[in-house]
Amino acid sequence: RSPAPIARPTARSLTALREEAEHCRACPLWKNATQTVFGEGRATARIVLIGEQPGDREDLAGKPFVGPAGKLLDRALEQAGVERTQTYVTNAVKHFKFEPRGKRRIHKKPNEHEISVCQQHWLDNELRLIEPDLVIAMGATAARAVFGRATAIGKSRGHIIKGQSLASEIGADVIVTVHPSFLLRVPDEDRDSAFQAFVEDLKLARKYAP
Ligand code: URA
Repeated sequence: RSPAPIARPTARSLTALREEAEHCRACPLWKNATQTVFGEGRATARIVLIGEQPGDREDLAGKPFVGPAGKLLDRALEQAGVERTQTYVTNAVKHFKFEPRGKRRIHKKPNEHEISVCQQHWLDNELRLIEPDLVIAMGATAARAVFGRATAIGKSRGHIIKGQSLASEIGADVIVTVHPSFLLRVPDEDRDSAFQAFVEDLKLARKYAP
């Protein structure tokens, strides 16, 4: 028997949407996660940054991008001249997906179903309520959620994309770039240049900053 369809949220404000998301059971990821990690930032933000899913630290804190990837993102935004406090930061998937290994919880990639259900329930509504001018998709999962299909980061990064996504339906442009966690895994000798390339992508956002 297939599960009963779960109603899409109807919230008219970001605060109400966030409250609805606390009880999300639309995919099985809620079972093992500590809590829903909803987006955070200004409801009037011109720029929305989208990551993949909360990590271990975010799952415990209940806030997006507060762990190592978040620190790296903060540093890159600062170098790019974009104020994080002026943006809205969220994830494509709102629950931490992991595999227990001893005492550690090892990140697992969300699958297509989890990404698309979470996008339809939460990300689409966050974007509709905020109506940003620019969406920054960091990494393959965010790009999939924004474009609704697999997107090659290497080919899509480095320029502003108009008109082929959910974001364009709400009138927003898109920048695709790497996920900050990717930079943490780049071999030492390439890390500086990979970080600089990330900063260059983020600099494209400057003209959207208030
Ligand atoms: N990685 C993400 O994609 N999002 C977070 O919030 C933290 C790490």
